Amino acid sequence: MSADHTSTLAEGSSPRPPRHIAVIMDGNGRWAKRRGLPRTAGHAAGAESFRRAAKYCRSIGVEYLTVYAFSTENWRRPEDEVAGIMRLLKKYLLEALDDLTAENTRLHFFGDLTPLPPELRKMCLDCAERSKGFTGGQVNICLNYGGRDEIVRAARRWAADGCPALDEDVFSGYLYSAGVPDPDLLIRPGGETRISNYLLWQLAYAEMYFSDVLWPDFDEREIDRAIAAYHSRDRRYGGV
Ligand code: IPE
Ligand code: IPE
Ligand code: MG
Repeated sequence: MSADHTSTLAEGSSPRPPRHIAVIMDGNGRWAKRRGLPRTAGHAAGAESFRRAAKYCRSIGVEYLTVYAFSTENWRRPEDEVAGIMRLLKKYLLEALDDLTAENTRLHFFGDLTPLPPELRKMCLDCAERSKGFTGGQVNICLNYGGRDEIVRAARRWAADGCPALDEDVFSGYLYSAGVPDPDLLIRPGGETRISNYLLWQLAYAEMYFSDVLWPDFDEREIDRAIAAYHSRDRRYGGV
């Protein structure tokens, strides 16, 4: 990724970027395998790629960035890979907090943090708390997140509230994403063309962009490409 990449979007000559971009950060393992490295090295490269992507999205005026970091299904991976990911998350959260503070960006977590290692869980809660008043955009990290799990939890909370009158807006308020506009653009690098239980409710009308580029290689130029594809789409929302 070139550090001096200047976006045409950053120059202000293009249409407004999507307000909310969601990313399935996939392909870390294959990126490492191709280099003869352990999968954890791919996750480290992926974390670095996230850091750059967050910075870049902020610089071009994307208000919300939501990334899939660990799914409810990812616990099925070998224990040492899961432990490696949790270690990396701790390391990168500390660094991310510096970046976010410098850029005035709020950090939120979507997912049930209860099963995470206690130290990591505490860090997530601290990060969210410390960045609460920041006004320069929002990054949502989906951690132990699953779209179906989110919907079931929302339904349980709604029931526990005594089943108030229900419509789509009321139900949205029970999701992790309460108050966050739906993603305009979903980016999935890594070559797979599926949703993998991501933001099932929120992606109802998102534009989908799939790329064979692996997440650690998904640089500013690739983000520009995804946004250019987004701008070429005609969003009809069921109309004509
Ligand atoms: C995404 O990369 C990161 C997580 C799911 C935690 P993968 O680890 O799924 O990479 P591939 O798909 O095996 O290449
Ligand atoms: C989706 O990637 C989850 C994250 C990127 C965190 P996976 O690699 O887990 O998805 P599948 O297994 O290819 O569907
Ligand atoms: Mg994968």
